[in-house]
Amino acid sequence: MAELEQRGDLTPAPSAWEYAEAPESRDIVKLEERYGLFVGGEFVEPASGEYYETIDPASEEPLAEIPQAGPEDVALAVEAARDGFANGWSAAAPAERAKYLYRIARILQERSREFAVLESLNGGKPIRESRDVDLPLAAAHFFYYAGWADKLEYAFPHRRPKPLGVAGQIIPWNFPLLMLAWKIAPALAAGNTVVLKPAETTPLSALLFCDVLRQAELPPGVVNIVTGDGRTGAALVKGDVDKIAFTGSTEVGKAIQRELAGTGKKLTLELGGKAANIIFDDCALDQAVEGIVNGIYFNQGHVCCAGSRLLVQESIYEPLIEKLKRRLTTLRVGDPLDKNTDVGAINSRQQLEKIEELVAAGKEEGAEIYQPPCRLPEKGYWFVPTVFTNVAQSYRIAQEEIFGPVLSVLTFRTPDEAVEKANNTPYGLSAGVWTEKGSRILWMAERLEAGVIWANTYNRFDPASPFGGYKESGFGREGGRHGLEPYLAFDGVEASGG
Ligand code: NAI
Ligand code: MG
Repeated sequence: MAELEQRGDLTPAPSAWEYAEAPESRDIVKLEERYGLFVGGEFVEPASGEYYETIDPASEEPLAEIPQAGPEDVALAVEAARDGFANGWSAAAPAERAKYLYRIARILQERSREFAVLESLNGGKPIRESRDVDLPLAAAHFFYYAGWADKLEYAFPHRRPKPLGVAGQIIPWNFPLLMLAWKIAPALAAGNTVVLKPAETTPLSALLFCDVLRQAELPPGVVNIVTGDGRTGAALVKGDVDKIAFTGSTEVGKAIQRELAGTGKKLTLELGGKAANIIFDDCALDQAVEGIVNGIYFNQGHVCCAGSRLLVQESIYEPLIEKLKRRLTTLRVGDPLDKNTDVGAINSRQQLEKIEELVAAGKEEGAEIYQPPCRLPEKGYWFVPTVFTNVAQSYRIAQEEIFGPVLSVLTFRTPDEAVEKANNTPYGLSAGVWTEKGSRILWMAERLEAGVIWANTYNRFDPASPFGGYKESGFGREGGRHGLEPYLAFDGVEASGG
């Protein structure tokens, strides 16, 4: 333990803890030099002939070569998915589909350390999070939807649910395997087949997942994985699919919605957010500080539902900010594979540049910046956990999604004012409320325009709980019984595209 720091009349706190290195071994992960596209149950070379390098964002070290699938490759994958749908999957006994989903869930559990290390290696997130959050939740999603596969008639009584056909699924880089699970598990449970495109910076866990599918003996063509950047995603949207499920930026979500308008293809969009985490003066303050930290620094703030706008009741503003700043000095930023790391690497250079640009705008517009003393590794992409105080609602850092470890603090006096400020955003994905009063939680929840509202906690996920947004955060729900609906057609309601 290092020297004690004296701050006003507060209890002295250690200003730094020294930790021995505790690296997770990466030997458990065996990487190929070059991967193929997973089509019809086999790895195939891309017809495009193009590859790109995927890297470790913590070291910028190249990890493997990944196919950049072109329109022809995407068409082949969609055809394989059509065959898979026609040749047995759609007509399989529902309990048979459940069997495969249970197998996948169990194999993910068995191989969870391997997946966790790979996820941290390719994405930059701390091993503590990939191990304790991403992997258990990914397996839980498969277990959960396995349970629904043979109960669809009960989930939607008198509506005669049936599968749509082929689902095209496009996912982002912040929770690569977990977003894959959110997409694939309900689609298969409902009897569809899938073509999934992982994000260009984080394809490796989706490619390792193909090995899980083989182990589970999933019939060929039921799940196909095509890698590549936005061009591959665009080709999938244009392809012969019956549904698109997209998670990513609002900008791309809008483009997809325009593309699909009038086609009859179903669409769900899970886009960005600028959530308010609202702290009332009667809350348990230390607990709230932990919730604030978890809300914005979890996964480097690369979280669509991150609590990126902190709304603090004026009467507790000073003690709260004091405690928060002190807590920030204890966050450990560094090697994602170190078990002591709290904040890992920024996912890509592009994302780092976006964060830097918005932080510069925050300073320029007049907000006050606080960053704890912090030594960053020389190579790789890093950003120090940051708090902005003195933020006006009109500032870009209060309006735009930063998608990094950067918190903007605003204040309020009354619950009405808190609601007004919280809803003053084009987004509406999530919110947090911290108060001792149950009645106030319900009062707030009724008025906040957000798909998910956490009370006295933050960033808690459960496969049984639906997740999704309002306004520019998108539409459709993932998780829970609600999450099945976008993958089903009902008697008399064949399609309801975006
Ligand atoms: P993006 O929306 O460009 O990428 C998400 C996925 O969409 C990736 O798989 C990408 O290859 C694909 N894609 C890109 N262009 C496409 C197109 N025209 N048609 C079909 N698919 C396409 O997001 P990006 O550029 O990685 O991040 C930009 C910002 O978006 C972030 O800074 C963050 O604010 C937000 N974002 C929000 C996410 C969320 O969870 N809601 C996830 C990722 C990013
Ligand atoms: Mg983009």
